[in-house]
Amino acid sequence: MMRGLKDKVVLITGSANGIGKCTALRFAEEGAKIVVADFADGSGTVKEVEEKGSSAVYVQVDVSCPESVKNMIDKAIETFGKIDVLINNAGITKDAMMKKMTKDAWDAVISVNLTGVFNCTSAVLPFMLEQKSGVVLTSSSVVGIYGNMGQTNYAATKWGVIGMTKSWAKEMAKSGLRFNCVAPGFIGTDMVKKIPEQVLQDRILVKVPAGRLGEPEEIAAAFAFLASDDAKYINGTVLSVDGACTL
Ligand code: NAI
Repeated sequence: MMRGLKDKVVLITGSANGIGKCTALRFAEEGAKIVVADFADGSGTVKEVEEKGSSAVYVQVDVSCPESVKNMIDKAIETFGKIDVLINNAGITKDAMMKKMTKDAWDAVISVNLTGVFNCTSAVLPFMLEQKSGVVLTSSSVVGIYGNMGQTNYAATKWGVIGMTKSWAKEMAKSGLRFNCVAPGFIGTDMVKKIPEQVLQDRILVKVPAGRLGEPEEIAAAFAFLASDDAKYINGTVLSVDGACTL
């Protein structure tokens, strides 16, 4: 068990699937209440959180749309009365080599992975500043740190959220708020299953000294640690969880 997570209200974007869903279940095990915020149907996550004996509510949201994000925050506050932890986990890929990358593919990834993080964080801040506490965690990626072939748009967003997080920590540490990123390596979720098997073997796993994909639970554990009181003095950092991956 992590310290200080019991009865905390944790809003996780993109928690209908993958790492977000797994993170919701981990926080439920820690006794936290969960706001399952996703474009896709999150009722499955709510059910599993409840089976673990905790509470959850599903809110449909498009993080790229400020009105939709405002509705998400209103519904979370209406249900649980506060938000202690925001996890900016929703993310998409639209891969292409730079010479073939369209402006549409660029804009789509920027609007979810970068503007979405801006939208959700700015909407939750008034509540966190008022209560003089709060934790905002954001999914970066090894791709943000090292770059990756075919992922100009995605790399820009995942590097971008690190800069945003460090700036927020400098602006608001004095107000009792903490901001950190987790940078997963290659984790066995739907996003990675889209990569052709041969590419996965020849281009990716050869660069992972651990020799395997990561598990969503291993990312959920990093989020739980960074949200907990054990991480009280950790602010503005990036925690890599990547099996020593070097791209
Ligand atoms: P996933 O594709 O399994 O789940 C992403 C979730 O985000 C989905 O439920 C989807 O409906 C939701 N979503 C997408 N666009 C949305 C929008 N506009 N508004 C609200 N929800 C939206 O992805 P996965 O693998 O679980 O990734 C989660 C995060 O971790 C992403 O930010 C991803 O970039 C990051 N990450 C994943 C890695 C991996 O290996 N799977 C590696 C490094 C980072």
